[in-house]
Amino acid sequence: MKEMISKLKEQFDSKLKEVNDLGSLEQLRLDYMSKKGRISELMKELAKLPNDQKKEAGRLINSFKEEVTKHFENRRDQIIKLEEQVLINATESYDDSMPTNNPCGSYHPITLVQRELEDIFESMGFDVEDYNEIVDDYHCFEALNIPKYHPARDMQDTYYLTTKNQLLKSHTSAAQNAILKKYGKALREEGRPIKAVFPGRCFRNEAIDACHENTFFQMEGIMVDKNISVSNLIYFMKTMLSQVFGREVTVRLRPGFFPFVEPGFELDIKCLICNGEGCSSCKNSGWLELCPCGMIHPNVLKYGGINTEEDPYEYTGFAFGLGLTRLAMMKYAVKDIRTFNSGDLDSLSQFINR
Ligand code: DAH
Repeated sequence: MKEMISKLKEQFDSKLKEVNDLGSLEQLRLDYMSKKGRISELMKELAKLPNDQKKEAGRLINSFKEEVTKHFENRRDQIIKLEEQVLINATESYDDSMPTNNPCGSYHPITLVQRELEDIFESMGFDVEDYNEIVDDYHCFEALNIPKYHPARDMQDTYYLTTKNQLLKSHTSAAQNAILKKYGKALREEGRPIKAVFPGRCFRNEAIDACHENTFFQMEGIMVDKNISVSNLIYFMKTMLSQVFGREVTVRLRPGFFPFVEPGFELDIKCLICNGEGCSSCKNSGWLELCPCGMIHPNVLKYGGINTEEDPYEYTGFAFGLGLTRLAMMKYAVKDIRTFNSGDLDSLSQFINR
């Protein structure tokens, strides 16, 4: 047994050194630690030994197992740190004092992030929709279960136009009613689930500083079908955000109030820079607030023509609102939100091909 273990250990050490990403590390872990893995095989060998040798052999296997576990954890930490370094190095190359040397123009960083997200959502079967920037009070508020004089309106300091009832859209949720109506027929008649995202420019009367702008971008998404529950929401958000960040993310939900969802949540992800230990990017909390979401309120589904008065829960769904501007800031480590609307080509053209 001693020999078997020392051979395995040698093999393990050399394989572990070759592993450079979390996926292959997990594969190696399964090779050794899963039910059918090498350590289980040792246990089978153990059963065949004469009784007086079992105790010593069991001890050797256990200490080998502990050693393997410890080595896995250390290697995992190393790989995470290396990946973070790559991320940080990539983002730190942005320098807003560099002169532009790009003669042929480039995409705006928000456009780049928006397109990347659209590709991800399309690959998950979502329709991408466009919507007006000028909308009416009904779509921006009432259809979202925010009646006139409701205090929730104070959360969004809205620009009203002098034209009757019109305003600059203060959030992309304003498109929900139109999207529900557009796809509702196919849902009710053909059973085709509604899966749509709608990016857009939003406006609020904010006092402008490095973190606040009066013009910013969001991307809203909804999914509606029969039997959609909070579990679907959590699973979907985790999968979608892992794709967006290109690595496995850990999510947590806290209660959050938005009149158009019930229950409503604030979704946080474990900080990608410090892996939850606390750093300046996550204000030492270990978590980053990323995306409010929730189960669509029955009134919203009713106003969108999805459910009837008689059966308000026939179809259910979830909605989420991603802050595109915020994501672009995180992705490119842009410290001042005003960069985006500055029209400053020296800054903005640096994001080409990234
Ligand atoms: N529209 C909200 C805002 O801009 C964000 C939001 C919250 C969107 C919850 C959602 C949601 O879809 O479910 O403040």
